[in-house]
Amino acid sequence: MDKAIYPGSFDPVTNGHLDIIKRCSEIVKELTVAVLENPRKKALFSVEERVEMLKRITAPFPNVTVDYFSGLLIDYAQKKNIFLIIKGLRAISDFEFEFQMALANRKLNPNIETLFMMTSNNYSYLSSSIVKEVASFGGDFSDLVPPEVYEMIKRKFSKSGCKKRSF
Ligand code: PNS
Repeated sequence: MDKAIYPGSFDPVTNGHLDIIKRCSEIVKELTVAVLENPRKKALFSVEERVEMLKRITAPFPNVTVDYFSGLLIDYAQKKNIFLIIKGLRAISDFEFEFQMALANRKLNPNIETLFMMTSNNYSYLSSSIVKEVASFGGDFSDLVPPEVYEMIKRKFSKSGCKKRSF
């Protein structure tokens, strides 16, 4: 396969995301990881910060680039001339929403295909929300995110003066 987009909010990037990026980069020639800039959704990290963390963790993969977009994903994909979208699936609970999105995207642009990649077993419970929840209460999340991202989250929560709690 030639080129693909792996889109997401990545607020923040988890080891589950990194696993999909790694595996995908071995299948496609060029992978674009695209961060959604969504002014309607309050994020912990700015788009610039999320792009930065993705750039750091994807540095070892020469065929991976990082970008951001706003608006419809299919418009971004068309603009970039990329006709394959990769999404990660963790559990059946993800399926319904992802299925709806994939069908909506196909209705909007039938030339763009969506492929799903199953998460690795270790990460089936993992999400950005879980990481934020654990980090915000001072729990140990060092196994959940890449080390570079761990430091960025630590800094973010220490700046916001969040109280620590041991689990
Ligand atoms: O990491 P997420 O939050 O699950 O990623 C969701 C994302 C960014 C892939 C999805 O929300 C998206 O593509 N948003 C852009 C708007 C769009 O194209 N929606 C689909 C058609 S309704």
